[in-house]
Amino acid sequence: MFTKSMTVSRKNGLLFIDDVALEQVAARFGTPVYIYSWSQIADRFSALKNALSELDSLICYSVKANSNLAILHRLTKLGAGFDIVSGGELERVLQVGGNPATVVFSGVGKSVEDIDFAIKAGIYCFNVESKSELLRIEDRARLLQKVAPVSIRINPNIDAGTHPYISTGLNENKFGVPEQMAFELYKKAKTSSHLDIKGVDSHIGSQISNITAFGEALDHELKLASRLASEGIDINHLDIGGGLGIRYDTEVPINVTAYGKLITQKLTSSRLSQIQGINPKIIVEPGRYLVAESGMLVTKVEYLKPAPGPEFKNFAIVDAAMNDLLRPALYGAYHNIEPLIEESESTDEKWNLVGPICESADFLALNRSLSLSEGDLLAIMTTGAYGFTLSSNYNSRPRPPEILIEGDQMLEIRSRESIDDLLRREKIV
Ligand code: LLP
Repeated sequence: MFTKSMTVSRKNGLLFIDDVALEQVAARFGTPVYIYSWSQIADRFSALKNALSELDSLICYSVKANSNLAILHRLTKLGAGFDIVSGGELERVLQVGGNPATVVFSGVGKSVEDIDFAIKAGIYCFNVESKSELLRIEDRARLLQKVAPVSIRINPNIDAGTHPYISTGLNENKFGVPEQMAFELYKKAKTSSHLDIKGVDSHIGSQISNITAFGEALDHELKLASRLASEGIDINHLDIGGGLGIRYDTEVPINVTAYGKLITQKLTSSRLSQIQGINPKIIVEPGRYLVAESGMLVTKVEYLKPAPGPEFKNFAIVDAAMNDLLRPALYGAYHNIEPLIEESESTDEKWNLVGPICESADFLALNRSLSLSEGDLLAIMTTGAYGFTLSSNYNSRPRPPEILIEGDQMLEIRSRESIDDLLRREKIV
């Protein structure tokens, strides 16, 4: 069940990351608990970097996927830049010593405060998503007596075949602007002494399995960049976004080598490069590809509630819930379930894994063949991306700790929240 590149393994029935039996992590830190493998993240980073090795490339990790400071800090050391969407994410990058000159700032609703913060911090580039935003950035730069670096995010109207909630590159989505409008905005930016044009940007969605969609998006960017060059507007980079798909269940994951080859081939054979002599840097913004498979949420079976008759379901009530992992409730997402200790002889039954929250959407897995007893520990796999970052305190539940495994070490990179943490900011008035 584990893919070749994974650092997760089973030895004598016990689930391990590197040299650590995960049962020991649960014993030390309790459940529910998020556990990540650093070597898995580092392997993914180098695989992507190698795939783009013929190009001048910058991997801007998409902080929203997993924003724990320890992970950002280690990624900084590997040479990652960052894709951020808020002042909060910028603060995280700065706190770990990330270089602001490697930061791109995406998102349709950048506030005045966030824009000022990013201009003063000296980020590499704003990925601008509307005309109003461009005008606001120009105004703020003028007021601060600075020059703001910008790219326009184009929406190339490409169907990348993703879940509708995570598609971003279609006309009906709120992201980016059509190419003709982008062209006009570049001409406007060119005349401003407070805007500096850096590149062209797109991000067509998330969990994309088909590399052709990335190729098409790049074609649109190359066409626009070439048109801009004819107008005397030269760009430094093309940002092709994130969205590289991985395997949760039966999906075909992106072949990162083929992805790299496609991008390299398109760029080097383009009119922009061949005729206009412009060889822009390539920026990619992966989140999920780097961190999803590194992580799991370990939970304990609290109660078994077997079906009292054929018209009922078997429920296993576990101590993690939709507040800890929202993906199943929000997208109907599938996550594989692995017992921490595998029994040699077991009789499987179909179980719905549900949490203690008072909502019928509070499920983590449906209809899974498992052999379960109360007290069993289960790993909800592939939850390193959009797991902890989408968590909440719904039902006044403190969020789980995060533990990073590195070799034989269990590093507590976020401690378990307490009820006091939750109540601290409230007042009885
Ligand atoms: N760049 C931009 C501008 C983005 O909006 C995103 C993700 C990324 C990069 C990174 O995409 P990735 O490589 O991770 O696919 N919560 C959803 C995913 C939402 C993605 C939002 N934007 C999930 O759990 O599947």
